[in-house]
Amino acid sequence: MTPGPAPVARRRVAVLISGGGSNMAALIEATRDPAHPAEIVCVLSNRADAGGLAKARAAGVPHVAVVDHRAHATREAFERAMQAELEAADVEIVALAGFMRLLTPWFIERWHDRLINIHPALLPSYKGLHTHARALADGVKIAGCTVHFVRPEMDVGPIIVQAAVPVLDGDTAETLAARVLAREHRIYPLALARVASGAVRVVRDDDGNEVVRTEGASSSGGELIWPA
Ligand code: GAR
Repeated sequence: MTPGPAPVARRRVAVLISGGGSNMAALIEATRDPAHPAEIVCVLSNRADAGGLAKARAAGVPHVAVVDHRAHATREAFERAMQAELEAADVEIVALAGFMRLLTPWFIERWHDRLINIHPALLPSYKGLHTHARALADGVKIAGCTVHFVRPEMDVGPIIVQAAVPVLDGDTAETLAARVLAREHRIYPLALARVASGAVRVVRDDDGNEVVRTEGASSSGGELIWPA
């Protein structure tokens, strides 16, 4: 019998959630493919009522736990409890997926360039909450989502992947959110694959800004003009 191809060493990933966990589910689904360079080995939630917990257990994620922020006197104590779970699960990369707690520099620096987040807007526009309602109020024609490395400032950090969607006449915050969310589910597995495989690296540009360079990225992407 001829031996098959050597198994790819996959990076061990934790997903941190606070809610329904549809992005977490997209990551779990994508990483079922043994060719994906990451595997989801841990899901942590700061809320016991997060709907994503049941999905993670049903999907067979080996380490699923609640670390309730209210049970800890300080942010750092909360983060040290999360850190203990991450170490117990031997985690190498942390993906925030609708995790609605601000993290301290203590945690963020510990996971430097191994901590990524998805945000429902085209950063650096619309940091923070209520991104879709604010975009509609401004009358923008293109909205979208961003996966980025986390830095201590909220919704700031080198951008790994973005996707854009049109804003349609008659959109509400809910219809726009649904269109963006469908794109989130596409780009988060893609961004994680690039981080896990080492295809992206953070470099300083000539002005000293941190930016991401992606190995093998095509420079011939189509242009997106909307309304067409
Ligand atoms: C997603 O739209 C995510 O981008 C957003 O919360 C939602 C979580 O949905 N994250 C943030 O707003 C973080 N600032 P999900 O639990 O179904 O993945």
